[in-house]
Amino acid sequence: MPQKKFTIHIPEVDSVRQGQEPFFIKYDGETKMLRTHDYDEIYKIPGLYEHLIHEKYKCDSPNVVCGLLEEQVAKSAMDISDLKVLDVGAGNGMVGEKLVEKGVDSVVGIDIYEEAAEAADRDRPNVYEDYYVEDLTQLTDSVQKEIEAKDLNCLTIVSSLGFDDIPPLAFVQAYNLISDTGWVAFNIKDEFFETADSTGFAQLIHQMIDADILKLKTQQHYRHRYHQDGTPLYYFAFVGEKQQNISEDLIHAQT
Ligand SMILES: C[S@@+](CC[C@H](N)C(=O)[O-])C[C@H]1O[C@@H](n2cnc3c(N)ncnc32)[C@H](O)[C@@H]1O
Repeated sequence: MPQKKFTIHIPEVDSVRQGQEPFFIKYDGETKMLRTHDYDEIYKIPGLYEHLIHEKYKCDSPNVVCGLLEEQVAKSAMDISDLKVLDVGAGNGMVGEKLVEKGVDSVVGIDIYEEAAEAADRDRPNVYEDYYVEDLTQLTDSVQKEIEAKDLNCLTIVSSLGFDDIPPLAFVQAYNLISDTGWVAFNIKDEFFETADSTGFAQLIHQMIDADILKLKTQQHYRHRYHQDGTPLYYFAFVGEKQQNISEDLIHAQT
């Protein structure tokens, strides 16, 4: 982990939405207020994401999702070293690093922020074979073709679905980028997987399972991290095997 050259102060908060939790950061002679989902600003400061999200708020998602993937691959005819992963919402590389530690062959990252790519290169060089700075909601044809040509056989999306991050249609886009019969590992806030969900994720995931587009291998409800007010935030982690691309019909049902 990068050396810590900053101090943070977390104020007491009341009724702040997840991701909007404020904190004060003193770095390089300047103090400013940021919020937990200000990823571009956070990634610019070495070690800040790790300190805030993982040490202070005890985020366990890269461990849980990558651990479940490893367990399921071990039960299959494949070896973890056979995996060529597309890591979506890759951030500063914490998931890519876990995957490489577990022995995957190669990892390609995508994130919307240039600052994420720069942080991954600065803090975890040699983890990503390639790292694309792209908005998955508007993936260009040339990048789509380039990624498809890599014949990747695993998709990871950790803590990047929902909120103002990656919407269902972009998830579909990512799903269709990896080969059929590839592995898929992702997580989502539990309320986005409940019947009353309004994000569209619950319906999409259930349709994918029902239509045998995704063969679900395991699902786990776990504590993703703590909110600033101390409340535990629960997510579902899913690992499965892709059976086929998501069809146009199902995509239209999302629009
Ligand atoms: C909570 S971070 C998770 C980072 C990493 N997966 C981890 O677990 O440490 C969510 C990431 O999703 C990225 N993201 C949000 N919207 C995106 C989009 N439309 N396309 C690509 N990446 C996006 C953000 O920039 C951010 O780095």
